[in-house]
Amino acid sequence: MSLYAIGDLHLHFESELKSPVQLQDRLWRDHEEKLRRNCLRLIGPEDTLLLMGDHSWGRNLSECGEDLAYIMALPGRKILLRGNHDMFWDAKKTAALNQRFAGRLLFLQNNYYAYRDYALVGTKGFTFEGPFYLDAHRRIVGWDEDAEAHARKIIERELVRLRASFDSARADGYRRFIMLLHYPPTSILEAASGFTDMAEEYGAEQVIYAHCHGESRFHDSILGEFNGVRYSLASGDYLRWQPMKVLD
Ligand SMILES: [Fe+2]
Ligand SMILES: [Fe+2]
Repeated sequence: MSLYAIGDLHLHFESELKSPVQLQDRLWRDHEEKLRRNCLRLIGPEDTLLLMGDHSWGRNLSECGEDLAYIMALPGRKILLRGNHDMFWDAKKTAALNQRFAGRLLFLQNNYYAYRDYALVGTKGFTFEGPFYLDAHRRIVGWDEDAEAHARKIIERELVRLRASFDSARADGYRRFIMLLHYPPTSILEAASGFTDMAEEYGAEQVIYAHCHGESRFHDSILGEFNGVRYSLASGDYLRWQPMKVLD
C-alpha cells in the first residue's frame, strides 16, 4: 500500500484549451497518455493517488465529465484537492460533489482523509504572484500593493480552511499529518508564511504542493527540508507525469 501525488493535469477532453504553453511545450505532448501509463505501471488498487488541483479547463461540471471520467479510470483511491482553475468545484458545495461521486472520487475541503495512521489534510492555499516591478537587471524592486492586500485576505481565508481540516483530523485522534496545498506555501518574496507556520504548529511531516508549472516556476517555493518539514512540488510537468511516492 502506497501514497502517491501529482497535480496540474489541466485536462481538456471537453473544453477549450486556454494555455498556449500547454499546446507548444514538448513536456505537455500527449501528457494524458503518459500519465495514464505511468499510473497503471505504478499504482495498484490498494494505493491512494492525491490529485493536487487544476484538474480540468472545463468551466462547469458538464464540461468536466470526460476529464473526471479519465481520473476515475486511473488505478487506486483518488483524492482531489481544489486548484485555482477548478471552476466546476464550489468550495461550499464540496459535500454535494462527494455525494455525487461517492465510491469513485473523494474531494478534500474542510475535511480530511485517513491514510494508515496519517491524516491527509489540506486546502487550495494562496500565494501573492504579483504584479512585481523589475529593474533593468530583472531584480524585484516593488509590487502592486493593492494586489498584495487582496492576496492577504484570500490567504487568511485559506488558513481558516486549512485549520478546520487539521482540527477535524485532530479531534478524531490523528497525530501524524501530510499537508496538501494547491498553491506553493510561500511566494517568491517569502522564506516562510502562515502555511509553513501551520505545518510546524501541527507537526506535519510533509507538505505537498503543485501549481508551479513551466520550468521557470519550479523553484518558486520551498523544496526539501525546512524547519523539520519536508516540502515537495508535485506538478505534473515537474514530475514528467510520473506520480511522486509520498509514503509507503
Ligand atoms: Fe496549474
Ligand atoms: Fe494552479
